[in-house]
Formats: sequence, C-alpha cells, structure tokens
Amino acid sequence: MGADIPFLRWALRYVLDRVPEDGDAPAFGATHAAATTLSDGERAMVSSYPAQGADAGALREQLTALMDRHLVNGRSPRFQNQLFSGVEEEALAGAFLGIFPNNTISTREVAPLPSEMETAVTTWLLRQLPWDTALADGTLTPAGSFSNYLAVYLARRRATDRLGRDVLPRLAAFTSEAAHYSIPKGADFCGVRPDQVFEVGVDAGDRMDPAALAAALATAEDRGLVPFFVNATLGTTVAGSLDPVADIRAVIGERAVWLHADGAWGALGLLGSDRERFRAAVSHADSLTWDAHKGLGAPVSLSHLLVRDAAALDVLRPDHGGGYLFRDLDAPREQADLGLRSLYCGKPFLALSLWLLWKAKGESGLRAHVDHARALTLRFRDRMAASAHYELAHEPETWVVCMRPVGGGDPDALAEATRTRVNASGRWMINLCPSSGGRVFRALFVNPLMTAEHVDELADHLEACHPAAG
Ligand SMILES: Cc1ncc(COP(=O)(O)O)c(C=O)c1O
Repeated sequence: MGADIPFLRWALRYVLDRVPEDGDAPAFGATHAAATTLSDGERAMVSSYPAQGADAGALREQLTALMDRHLVNGRSPRFQNQLFSGVEEEALAGAFLGIFPNNTISTREVAPLPSEMETAVTTWLLRQLPWDTALADGTLTPAGSFSNYLAVYLARRRATDRLGRDVLPRLAAFTSEAAHYSIPKGADFCGVRPDQVFEVGVDAGDRMDPAALAAALATAEDRGLVPFFVNATLGTTVAGSLDPVADIRAVIGERAVWLHADGAWGALGLLGSDRERFRAAVSHADSLTWDAHKGLGAPVSLSHLLVRDAAALDVLRPDHGGGYLFRDLDAPREQADLGLRSLYCGKPFLALSLWLLWKAKGESGLRAHVDHARALTLRFRDRMAASAHYELAHEPETWVVCMRPVGGGDPDALAEATRTRVNASGRWMINLCPSSGGRVFRALFVNPLMTAEHVDELADHLEACHPAAG
C-alpha cells in the first residue's frame, strides 16, 4: 500500500482551488492594512519553536488561513507592484514537475532529459537574436540579477585574461542612472571599486544619454582607468525604455569593452510582431539578460544569460576540483554537462517550466501574448493621456505606462496619498517608483490573464482614487 501523503494532497488541492479564480482575483486576500500586517497571534504561530511536531491537520488549517490572508497574489492581473505579474498555467505545472525529481541538471547522466530540454529552450531563445546561433550560447540562471552578475563577471574575466590580474584595481564599468541596481552590485562582486562604476545620465525618457557615456569614458580614461564593461538596458526598470544601443556601441568605438544588454524586462519584445526594434538593439551586444518571469508568464524567477561567443562561458568550468561530479571534461560542447557552464552547481530543473510554456503556446501563441500586452499598454496609455487627474511621465516604449497624479501641493505627497487610496481595499496593488521628474505610478500589462476590462477597471479605479475625485 502506498504512503499517506496528506501534506502534498492538501498543497495541490490548495493550488487547484485557487488558480481557476485568478482572472478575477484581488491582489490581496484582505484589505491592504490587514494583509500586510500579521497579528501578534499570527507572528507567534509563525515563529514559535516546535519541540514536538505539530498536529498535522491543525498545522495545515493554520497555514491555509495565514496564506489566504497574507500571501499577495502575484498571479492576479491586479497585481501591479513589481516588474512581473501573472504566471501561465503550463509554466506553473512545469515548475512543479521540475522540482518533483528533486535533482539537478549538473550532469547529463543525472539529468538526461532535463539537459536536452534546457538546451532546447536556450537554443530557441538564441534563435530570436541576430547572432550566429552556432557560435552563441547561454545558461539559465535563477534571476535577472544573477544573469547581470554573470555578465559583469564574464567581462571582468575577459579583461583580466587579456591584460593580467594587475589591471583589476583600474577596471571601470558604465551603466545608466536608470539601470537596475544589480549592475553596480555585480561590479562590486567582481572587485570593481564603487567609485569606478559610472552611472551616466539619462534623457527625459530614462534612456542612457550617449554623450554622457562618452564624457564618463573620457573621465575614466583621464584617471588612468580601464573601461571593461558597459551595460545598456532594454526595458528600464521604471519606464520600460530602450537605451540607444547602436549609439552606445558607436561611443565605445574600438575599445575592448564588453557591451551587455540587460533585457530582463524588454527582451520579451523579441517574440512579438514588433521584434525588429529589439533585434536591432541586441545586434550590438555581447550578452543579453532575458527574464522569462518578467512578462512571458514563467514563475518567479527564471532568467537566461545569452552570450554571442559561446567560449566566454568556459570561464565557469571549475579550474580544479569538480572531479567528484564531472566525468568527461573533454566532451564537445553539445554533449558536455550543463553544470560546466552554470553559475551554480546544484541547479534545479527550472527549464521544464519554460519548455512546457514554449511547447504549449508555440511561437504564434507567444507572439500573440506580446502583441496583446502592447495593445493593452496603448489602451491604458490613451486613457491616462485623456485624464484630467494624471499626466503621462513618458511615452511607453514597451509594456509599462508611467504616470503621475496632478493637482496642487507637493507632488510626492499627492502621489503617496493617491497610492494609499488605490491600494487600500486590497483589490489592486500598484507601486510608486522614482523616475526623472519625480515619483510615478508604474502600471504593467504583461499578465496573461489581463483583459481590456481589467485595463479599464484600473483606469477607472485610479480616477476614483485621486484625492480631487472626493
Ligand atoms: C532591467 C532589470 N534588470 C534586472 C532586474 C533584476 O531581475 P530579478 O528581480 O529577476 O533579479 C530587474 C528587476 O526588476 C530589472 O528591472
């Protein structure tokens, strides 16, 4: 007779009961105040030390109540707080099944099927790029930040392999003021001094100013520094803007600098009908971060770092050690263990989630998703452009719309007061973000469950919550 598995049955039931309702689900299971604050009793339940195991049934009941009240539903189209929203059913199923074998993809022997699947999805992503796929490669990482850290590391290795390790104290990295904080953090991990990471200025649309980059490069070189890495963002964290990558490449000129494109948010455009805009940008880059959890409907979080030159990933091979795990260090790339070009050793089978999504939707289904997101973005943009209570902060280049409430008094206080009203009931959750020209609301339209009705509901809700609306 099989073992009793009450926790698994309960967990799967919990999921199955809720996912079908996601299209109409609120962001919070209670009001904003109730959902975000645990009562003293709830905190005691969470942190008390169980000398003996708890009563299993009671534990499940208590946890159900806690999760229903305090888990913020990032699957809901009304969840607008972060740079992801929504997960496709196939991708969630793939994620569950991916952890089920409780194994890693480090070697082909331990992961014959997972290795083929990860390679298949990586190759599929590479085929969207204007690079020579036969020469390029990629690796799946746990998050966009990790892909960015890895890009800085590959660039650092290229520089120190070329110039020797003594150059390390003189290395200088460049990114924009609107880029994600994982870029400077990655530089710090690589030993680049913080005052040698140049965060160059942006235009009113949060796009890197190539003239500011040219000036920063000149300043660095005047100080005797060696530029080794430039990051261009495709889809900035707040405005969703595209840095002018062709101009950035022209400014870099003949310098031996690694140009990374952080497309964590914007690379999604490579799958839409408007893909040429994105392909043109990537054509200048040495590497690309692409997050499947930001907009494509994979669960948080699943990212790729793609590199134009496959050999760049060889620096991830263990220099020594690793013999306990890898049996064939000389295998050709197509048969090599994926752990040899992975950022970490025990990487789980995350790829199944993206593989299942890709197979279930097909390229046409994914294209339709991206085009739908763009159409909803423009619908919302038009609503906000016509509003008496809000002004658009920038023209949306991708799948976010940024706007600020207008009215008398301190703009930041007005924005904060409006946000409190917007989020109070718990139905919607939307964030305020810093941007050139002050803090802005950022709405995003990539949730696969999002419809025109949701867009209109959000616009109506924002109008009703503006303090001037009473
Ligand atoms: C442009 C950009 N790059 C990288 C990241 C980091 O991604 P992750 O949250 O997956 O670490 C973000 C996160 O919002 C981002 O906006």
